[in-house]
Amino acid sequence: MVKKVAVVVVAVFIGILSSINADTDPADASALNILYTSLNSPQQLTNWKASGGDPCGESWKGITCSGTRVTEINISGLGLSGNMGYQLDKLTSVTTFDISNNNLGNQIPYQLPPNVQRLNLAGNGFTAGLPYSISLMTSLKYLNVSHNQIQGPVAISFGSLTALSTLDFSFNSMTGDLPQSLQSLTGMKNMYLQNNKFTGNIDVLGNLPLENLNIENNQFSGRIPEQLKSIHLQLSGNLFKDVSAPPPPPGTPPPRRPPNQNEKSGATSSSLHSGGSESNGGGGSKSGIGAGAIAGIVISVLIVGAIIALFIVKRRSRKPSADIEKHDNLPFAPPASQQSQGMNSVQSSSTTGTMETPVVIDLKPPPVDDDLKSFDDDDIFVPPVPPPKKVKKGPINAKLYSVVDLQRATDSFSVDNLIGEGTLGRVYRAQLDDGQVLAVKKIKSPFLSNSKDFIDIVSEISMLRHPNVTELIGYCSEHEQHLLVYELHQNGSLHEFLHLLDDQSKALTWNNRVKIALGAARALEYLHEVCSPSVIHKNFKSANILVDMEFNAHLSDCGLASLVHESLDQASGYNAPEVSMSGQYTIKSDVYSFGVVMLELLSGRTPFDSSRPRTEQSLARWATPQLHDIDALAKMVDPALDGLYPVKSLSRFADVIALCVQPEPEFRPPMSEVVESLVRLVEQANMS
Ligand SMILES: *[C@@H]1O[C@H](CO)[C@@H](O)[C@H](O)[C@H]1NC(C)=O
Ligand SMILES: *[C@@H]1O[C@H](CO)[C@@H](O)[C@H](O)[C@H]1NC(C)=O
Repeated sequence: MVKKVAVVVVAVFIGILSSINADTDPADASALNILYTSLNSPQQLTNWKASGGDPCGESWKGITCSGTRVTEINISGLGLSGNMGYQLDKLTSVTTFDISNNNLGNQIPYQLPPNVQRLNLAGNGFTAGLPYSISLMTSLKYLNVSHNQIQGPVAISFGSLTALSTLDFSFNSMTGDLPQSLQSLTGMKNMYLQNNKFTGNIDVLGNLPLENLNIENNQFSGRIPEQLKSIHLQLSGNLFKDVSAPPPPPGTPPPRRPPNQNEKSGATSSSLHSGGSESNGGGGSKSGIGAGAIAGIVISVLIVGAIIALFIVKRRSRKPSADIEKHDNLPFAPPASQQSQGMNSVQSSSTTGTMETPVVIDLKPPPVDDDLKSFDDDDIFVPPVPPPKKVKKGPINAKLYSVVDLQRATDSFSVDNLIGEGTLGRVYRAQLDDGQVLAVKKIKSPFLSNSKDFIDIVSEISMLRHPNVTELIGYCSEHEQHLLVYELHQNGSLHEFLHLLDDQSKALTWNNRVKIALGAARALEYLHEVCSPSVIHKNFKSANILVDMEFNAHLSDCGLASLVHESLDQASGYNAPEVSMSGQYTIKSDVYSFGVVMLELLSGRTPFDSSRPRTEQSLARWATPQLHDIDALAKMVDPALDGLYPVKSLSRFADVIALCVQPEPEFRPPMSEVVESLVRLVEQANMS
């Protein structure tokens, strides 16, 4: 008996001890579990576990903690493969993340520790572009992605990265001109861009407080800013004009320039790799051989060559404008100046908790470009392209769940867990075994002919990453069931806020309405202008705008357009006239629907209300003629606001609506312009 009691006491004691021991924040532990399994559970990561465990208490390899939170992850040089999973953004206390010199491939995930100061992803096999989430890492001091195979233009914004002092992009295949937002890097000391394929000039670096700059072996041209001549500068292997000599008079053949060879300013401390050009020059002097005719031919060949070289150089230095022309062919490229204005103005609106406009507009998480074309050709607004190639699918950046998992999590899809029903199916609240609470959307079967289409769609959606786009966490395709698992925003949808809650205390304030409009506008801007090819939402409405506790908007049903057959919801009140008439969905029909949602925010009315007098049933038709009339506006405004709104802000808001709901699609503004106008409204609200 006594013995038994003793055993129990000891057991309880051990239990207490171990529960004290398990002192890692559960969200951190779970993020590391997913990192571990995504890296294929490698032995090198000693003590790591696939589920549960105590990273801080059990000294997991490479993990450093402070209190209960993980603060450092250094798993550099361990021969790791696989990917980083999709939960690193939950590691909010991590300040150092070093996974350099491993064998990771494909793309860097959108989800990264948001408050990281040192981020080292160098020496892997990443090919896709940098995730936009890096633009939001305001604590970042050191960023190293060198020695990968990253392709395409730099599609992140540096506008908020003022703490960044070391940036290493070297030894990749990055292309395009340097983004204008680089000029915001007011703490930048060491910058390494060598061995890429950057073009254009480097003027944007002129005013940075740089100490070291290496831009060797790119295709930069133009002049070297005066300020950079006093720092440690390495610039050989580019196409710079000679800064010390005046440009040759027109018509004079320039000095011979072997392709891709360097010509640099004598005034700089550029490292000298010019041996090659010297010996080439030596080769050229062979043309001095006697026989007149041959010499003549050789000389004329050389002159023609020189003219061609001059022509190429000229074209190269005109590249920026060529790029703008290219953008003009794309749906709605805002002029470069506008973009950078947008950047600056958004910076100061960081109090809104939303994010800024992207700099590069013709880019998206790249690896699925081909796939997107095959996704739904009708939906996508692209210049004519070769027929879609069915090449390898992009990786699915989401977790695969079984039907059994999701049945358990939703109590067999019980009505108690039903949180919404949309066009495409019902949405359930799901509580998973690890405690996570998510939203599960059960796609109605008529929308899907086969599971392969579904997997293609999942792959597309899993590439969409933006703070204002509802994040896809996982999916399930089994037994003819098609389910999508999303993050859950407990606060509900904008539709509920405006039309279902009768609790006056929960009425949205004017500022929150503007904030929600801005968040939703950014989501559409991302789909239309950042994703390439553009993604048309087709089903933009207040019920698809989820609102979190801070009143950030999260747009749902993105990328599901191909499931929406035309004119599903004729009488919804959201459809642009051309959609109602001929089912013509374009990004401009999304802009119209956006205007209708803004009208809902302004008036508190539903877009279509059959209980009202005939002339007032369609919100857009009734409200549009009154949008420029201040007295009419005052009568139209949502009574739930109780008169608490700045009149000026209201009338500017109405001006934006008037632009969006114009009957002619071509007159509706691109979403980036809408975003800009709303940013200004938010700024003014914050000032007063
Ligand atoms: C990570 O560890 C490696 C060697 O184990 C070391 O060289 C590197 O400096 C560490 N990284 C950081 C950020 O501390
Ligand atoms: C970036 O990482 C690579 C690979 O580990 C290393 O060679 C390079 O020195 C690092 N760059 C900087 C600026 O620390």
